[in-house]
Amino acid sequence: MPEIRPTVAQKDIICAEIAARPTAMVVFGASGDLARRKLLVSLFEVFKRGLLNERFYLLGCGRKELSDEQFRQVAEQAIQEESGDSSAKAIAPFINKLYYISGDYSDASFYESIKIKLAEYDKKHKVDGAVVFYLAVPPFLYATIVKRLCSAGLSSRSEPDSKRFRLVVEKPFGFSLQSAVELNNKIHGCFDESQIYRIDHYLGKETVQNILMFRFANIIYEPLWNRNYIDSVQVTISEKIGVEHRASYYDKAGALRDIFQNHMLQMLTLVAMEPPISFEADHIRDEKVKFLRSIRPFNVDQLDNFIVRGQYGPGSINGEKVIGYREEPGVNPESRTETFVAAKVFIDNWRWKGVPFYLRTGKRLAGKNTEIAITFKQVPHSMFISAGLDDIPSNILVLQIQPEEGIWLCFQAKRPGSKICMGTLNMNFNYRSVFGIDMPEAYERLLLDCMIGDQTLFTRQDGVEAAWGLLTPVLEAWQNDDAAPYEYPAGSSSFPAADSLIETDGRRWRELLGT
Ligand code: BG6
Repeated sequence: MPEIRPTVAQKDIICAEIAARPTAMVVFGASGDLARRKLLVSLFEVFKRGLLNERFYLLGCGRKELSDEQFRQVAEQAIQEESGDSSAKAIAPFINKLYYISGDYSDASFYESIKIKLAEYDKKHKVDGAVVFYLAVPPFLYATIVKRLCSAGLSSRSEPDSKRFRLVVEKPFGFSLQSAVELNNKIHGCFDESQIYRIDHYLGKETVQNILMFRFANIIYEPLWNRNYIDSVQVTISEKIGVEHRASYYDKAGALRDIFQNHMLQMLTLVAMEPPISFEADHIRDEKVKFLRSIRPFNVDQLDNFIVRGQYGPGSINGEKVIGYREEPGVNPESRTETFVAAKVFIDNWRWKGVPFYLRTGKRLAGKNTEIAITFKQVPHSMFISAGLDDIPSNILVLQIQPEEGIWLCFQAKRPGSKICMGTLNMNFNYRSVFGIDMPEAYERLLLDCMIGDQTLFTRQDGVEAAWGLLTPVLEAWQNDDAAPYEYPAGSSSFPAADSLIETDGRRWRELLGT
């Protein structure tokens, strides 16, 4: 049984952290970007917080030839770059838990060598055989690695081995409904669903996790959380960065696959799903899937009225000129890949019937801003009409995911001065000023959870397939459409076709933060 460590600090703060059992983590793609920038650094943070089991060890696997010592140097450098306050002395006890082995992912003998190493290090670190395999490799390698693990006897769907082996898969999980189903089938040949952890790093963000607590640990919002009181909802994930060094992946993926299918739909789901009966992984995931299935499918004959795509052209960010998407290194100069998606979706269920959800995500926009804004209906009657106050602004609740993590409630109040003087005020909760800390990196939570065996923050097969089921017809329609995405200048906030989705309903996009 996992050990539950209560860490109750104050009488009104209830925290519980479960410690991970002794585990071996095998990271495929250990010399790659994700491992260096996120995984090693996050594991070190978990270690610093005393939550990594002292018998933990990590075996990095990669094509690049590195000795244990060289891998440890790479890790140390990455940790120092990202978590600057740590000295080599503080890092050393963690670094000593790292090993490396190089080989060819499609070669069966590589997996035999991994097996031998695992037996050796299990003995050394007194790990009883629990292994988390982490696929931090390009998606085309997922099926190959899983197949080889299977043939090497490093996976099993039946007990007791099903309790020993876990598989963590990075996004994107598939490129369409069909490819996701195929990948699921292949993985299920070797791992049971209870052993599979599909990562969406947004679910590891504190502020995203807080959506459930905010909604379901307070009585005052839920009675209003429906079509009777809510006018509309906007979900925004905007980034200032462009495609960076990821053109080879991104040019094939685009914003719909890269962000919309996962992060965007997950945020939408958390804000609009029905209350689960408990905080158990499957109770939550059942409700999520039910919600995803209630999103009205896009009518492919009228796509432009509901979902539009854009691509950034040359422009300027923070006063500096930047190139357009098609000029980015590695991008096809005639690429029709979208870097911006805006959509209007409706939820066909009792709670949300008729409430529009406006969703937008894009790269190279004017601000870095992830938020969910819930606009309530206006008061039904203004008693201040005689003073000219007939159009009282709506209350807006903003769940700010980043960069300023917090919650804002905009409401109307009397302002000092004349008898009738009203203005919009903000009731503001800001994580940083209340808790005085930087938000933990999402991967810290997720890495710990896959070692503990808690699947709550990971997407289940039916959830992934429901999301692809909604978006695959859109992807196909765009692929068959000769028209290029609408161009928007880098550094702007939107473009006319995206504006018209919302403006035809008499509403406007919210201003991006940081503009
Ligand atoms: C990743 C996408 O999943 O999320 C990237 O692949 C994107 O394109 C990133 O930049 C955004 O994550 P965050 O945590 O910075 O909002």
